[in-house]
Amino acid sequence: MLLEGKRVSFLYKEQLKKEVDALLLNGKRRPHLAAILVGHDGASETYVNSKVKNCAEIGFTSTLLQLEENITEKDLLEKIKKFNDNEQIDGILVQLPLPKHINEQKVIEAIDPEKDVDGFHPLNAGKLVQGIPSFISATPYGIMLLLEYYQIETKGKNTVVIGRSNIVGRPMSILLSSNRPFGNSTVTLCHSQTKNLEEICLGADIIVAALGKPGFIHADMVKEGSVIIDVGITRVPDSTKKSGYRLQGDVDFENVFQKCSAITPVPGGVGLMTITGLLKNTMQAYLSKHS
Ligand code: GUN
Repeated sequence: MLLEGKRVSFLYKEQLKKEVDALLLNGKRRPHLAAILVGHDGASETYVNSKVKNCAEIGFTSTLLQLEENITEKDLLEKIKKFNDNEQIDGILVQLPLPKHINEQKVIEAIDPEKDVDGFHPLNAGKLVQGIPSFISATPYGIMLLLEYYQIETKGKNTVVIGRSNIVGRPMSILLSSNRPFGNSTVTLCHSQTKNLEEICLGADIIVAALGKPGFIHADMVKEGSVIIDVGITRVPDSTKKSGYRLQGDVDFENVFQKCSAITPVPGGVGLMTITGLLKNTMQAYLSKHS
């Protein structure tokens, strides 16, 4: 079975659109997401443009602040402060990665935790660990929504998360092991120093691959009937494409598809659910101040 993020994301967006229409009918303003993009990295530009486009589709206001690669850290922090102080803005995101001369952690911590719709601020990350309601990082949040939509049982399952990033792997491991709906898994968090990765994967009922290595997960690493969540979206050179590249996940899709019971395609899987997570966080940020 294909876990169709594209379709599920569409349904959530329809619901959010209705919620925005209801707000407007009640004389309220639209939720507003502000995105900051530093430099001209192609993939980051694509992601941010997609976020802005999705805001428009459901009736959110959005602001895109595009800054040059050589902006100083101080100037960037000032821009964030302005967005923090602007009551018309509900959610703020700074697209990562940032240029090397800017301290990413400082930037993340400069965002008002109540507007931190990426859930990267240590306060939100810490709340997640302690099971306190918070903004959940958009990709893990989107994956949880996908598991819920397809009613994938996670309770008591052996789940393997590959990758320990603050954006995906670590929060994903926390959510899946928490005592919550679509949690309660026995989670193994694997990373670059993990030994016997193949053996560990073969014992998994669910695999979340978030390591950023195209085609890394082969059919001989997965158990028959397992559920595969592919978070990878790497641009791989492809001269047959107009753009010169194609998107490839961390999973050898064709072969793994034959063996597993459910899998997310790339594209059309997790990527669109990430945007859903972000939009839902922005609505939550808005509602916490307006209801
Ligand atoms: N870079 C890769 N993923 C993300 C994300 O979810 N949010 C932001 N801000 N940057 C990213």
